[in-house]
Amino acid sequence: MQYFTLNDGNKMPVIGFGTFQMTDPEECAKAVEDAINSGYRLIDTAQSYFNEEAVGKGIANANVPREDLFITSKLWLSDTGYDATKKAFETTLKKLGLDYLDLYLIHQPYGDNFGSWKAMEDLQKEGKIKSIGVSNFYNDQLANLSLFNDVKPAVNQIEVNPWDQQIEDVKFLKEYGVQTEAWASFAEGKHDIFKNPVLQEIGDKYHKSIGQVILRWDIQRGIIPLAKSSRAERMQENLAVFDFELSAEDMKLIEKLDKKESQFFDHRDPKMIERLINLH
Ligand SMILES: NC(=O)c1ccc[n+]([C@@H]2O[C@H](COP(=O)([O-])OP(=O)(O)OC[C@H]3O[C@@H](n4cnc5c(N)ncnc54)[C@H](OP(=O)(O)O)[C@@H]3O)[C@@H](O)[C@H]2O)c1
Repeated sequence: MQYFTLNDGNKMPVIGFGTFQMTDPEECAKAVEDAINSGYRLIDTAQSYFNEEAVGKGIANANVPREDLFITSKLWLSDTGYDATKKAFETTLKKLGLDYLDLYLIHQPYGDNFGSWKAMEDLQKEGKIKSIGVSNFYNDQLANLSLFNDVKPAVNQIEVNPWDQQIEDVKFLKEYGVQTEAWASFAEGKHDIFKNPVLQEIGDKYHKSIGQVILRWDIQRGIIPLAKSSRAERMQENLAVFDFELSAEDMKLIEKLDKKESQFFDHRDPKMIERLINLH
């Protein structure tokens, strides 16, 4: 496994395994176990995925030393604020069956994030979280949080895929010293991404699949992609991205595919905030 170094000095695997929508406990536990046995070291879950217990079971079954793994979870909107965050974090830890997290993220940029951040800074000082970060924060929100607190987020986990490349945001985060982590790296298959002729032609050149081309493109951009798959053969396929390098020309061809818009929703839409609050 290769690693990127975060702004707090911790090392994070350059590719991770996502567990969103893995709601069947047995399937989820098996998928996480298979993923770790395939070589994934970074596992991404969240309070709002309702699968932390199953993820924990998969981690335990895989029997890989804890210090070799990089486990991430996220705080949901229902628990922003200092006290609620501390409580939610302890529940997350208990469900996962762990005594520390490698990365804990504020899942959405709403609610009392300053209170949550103070709690996370304290938990980090206590050694219960190695790195703290955010998800779905716009650049101004990230700067606001950074400038009025002691610890700058180590990571911002945002949507990045060939349809929504986030060129400006990724550039900003790099200059600001915050690691970009990509969610929905495959845009969950939208716009027939796994049949796209441009990506297919590039893949054919390197004898690689479209999935591998996308993940490699992320890593060469300095982004840590999350890839979700319930199938063991695809888990392995998605990890086999360290034996080739996309040329600058191919990186440019992929850049031309950018639709410059989220494939899911606008985090700035007030109606969306309401929908997210009412989700759980
Ligand atoms: N922070 C946030 O707000 C946020 C939001 C969404 C997601 N996330 C995180 O990001 C992770 C990844 O995003 P995602 O799960 O939404 O979607 P995704 O990784 O973009 O796409 C997953 C889909 O791609 C398929 N797939 C995977 N590898 C493939 C391959 N090599 N060839 C063909 N199909 C392939 C999977 O099918 P199979 O399972 O059948 O293989 C699944 O249907 C999540 O699991 C979660 O951890 C975070």
